[in-house]
Amino acid sequence: MDNLDEDGACAPPPPFHLEKSIVLVGLMGAGKTTIGRRLAKRLGVPFVDADAEIEKAAGCSIKDIFECYGEAAFREGERRVICRLMAGPPQIVATGGGAFMDAETRRRVKESGVSIWLKADIATLLARVSKRDTRPLLSKGDPETILRDLAEKRDPFYAEADIHIESRDGPHEHVVDAVVEALKNRRAT
Ligand code: S3P
Repeated sequence: MDNLDEDGACAPPPPFHLEKSIVLVGLMGAGKTTIGRRLAKRLGVPFVDADAEIEKAAGCSIKDIFECYGEAAFREGERRVICRLMAGPPQIVATGGGAFMDAETRRRVKESGVSIWLKADIATLLARVSKRDTRPLLSKGDPETILRDLAEKRDPFYAEADIHIESRDGPHEHVVDAVVEALKNRRAT
């Protein structure tokens, strides 16, 4: 019974048919996985988390990949995994925060997907990332300073995404609504 939602109620039909994968980009804590899962449900398509795929392929956690093989090896795996996902059927893809910095990844995403930058202010990101200690880049110093530095370096790349959405605190469904509206408007143009 695929069309039942979490409460067992009959889910409404998807608002449109997805022709290209939707790729969520943005800093750690932007809500790429949380929003991605809900968006996939709303659109009736599969959800895939690139970080989880990298862990599956490596057989260990991202933290361990960074520790044992280094960041460069992680980035290489990340590029390969996203390239594979972009060659697949339309789905919702949540990427890790650094993925869109890679020129080849950006090229693939632009070619066969629609990219969405989930934006949040530093305080919101900080509150969200402090719930887990699974992010190797944030364990190297003060997380707030690191996030500010990353935002400064990365925002110009995220800004290349097709759609920009504020990922505010509050019900996740509101962010999903904003994404669906933006996608509908884009289709209408
Ligand atoms: C990273 C973000 C992480 C993960 C890795 C590196 C980054 O993903 O890919 O720890 O460079 O910003 P999330 O953005 O899902 O936390």
